[in-house]
Amino acid sequence: MRKPIIAGNWKMNKTPDEAAALINDLKPLVASAQAEVVVCPPATDLAAAAAALAGSNISLGAQNMDYHDSGAYTGEVSADMLLGLGVKYVIIGHSERREYYAETDETVNLKVLKALEKGLTPIVCVGEKLEERESGVTAEVVRKQTKLALLNVAQGDVAKVVVAYEPIWAIGTGKTATSDDANNTIKEIRAAIKEVFGNVAEEVRIQYGGSMNPKNATELMAMSDIDGGLIGGASLKAEDFSKVVNY
Ligand code: PGA
Repeated sequence: MRKPIIAGNWKMNKTPDEAAALINDLKPLVASAQAEVVVCPPATDLAAAAAALAGSNISLGAQNMDYHDSGAYTGEVSADMLLGLGVKYVIIGHSERREYYAETDETVNLKVLKALEKGLTPIVCVGEKLEERESGVTAEVVRKQTKLALLNVAQGDVAKVVVAYEPIWAIGTGKTATSDDANNTIKEIRAAIKEVFGNVAEEVRIQYGGSMNPKNATELMAMSDIDGGLIGGASLKAEDFSKVVNY
């Protein structure tokens, strides 16, 4: 019922030329993928990426956007600007943005609402810090982040949202949550959505992210509630990313 979605989060890597080269390498390797495939290059690469992606089965995503329509917000990028480049997805509330750029549950929520209003699909990131995991509050943390991110989302829009569960201690560290742990936490996220929005929670795709790679993708993707992956490091090499996509 839920079509798997594998997205590459390139973070602050690749120039426009490098982005086009990576996409050209990737296209033939994922051409027969069963999953939905998304790449999220830096904003400065989106135009080059869109050109390289033309006619392929790979969709374009951005890593962030502002929640205002336009105006005096130096350095920011709006939903309309992304749409104008053919962007379909936007990562919102990645833990690096929450930690280094002061994103809060409130700004994450405003961005989710703006993305949906404009017709972009938000990939909303939630996840616990190491000390939260060690204190046994992982479920509370992700439940709260999820409910606050989805505050005031229209009932009819809920199924469009993609959630990425990314335990912060697993990002870029080579440490992965066990597939059971990841699946259980994703079940908590789905239960939290269900408490607010009801059975439509069963339609929401929830990805795992955090050191997901060609070696662990098969096992993670076999779990009942893991509907895809948000891939950082392993998305920067066409061969690695394609192996995750073709898990
Ligand atoms: P990683 O990053 O795959 O390099 O751990 C995932 C992410 O931050 O989205």
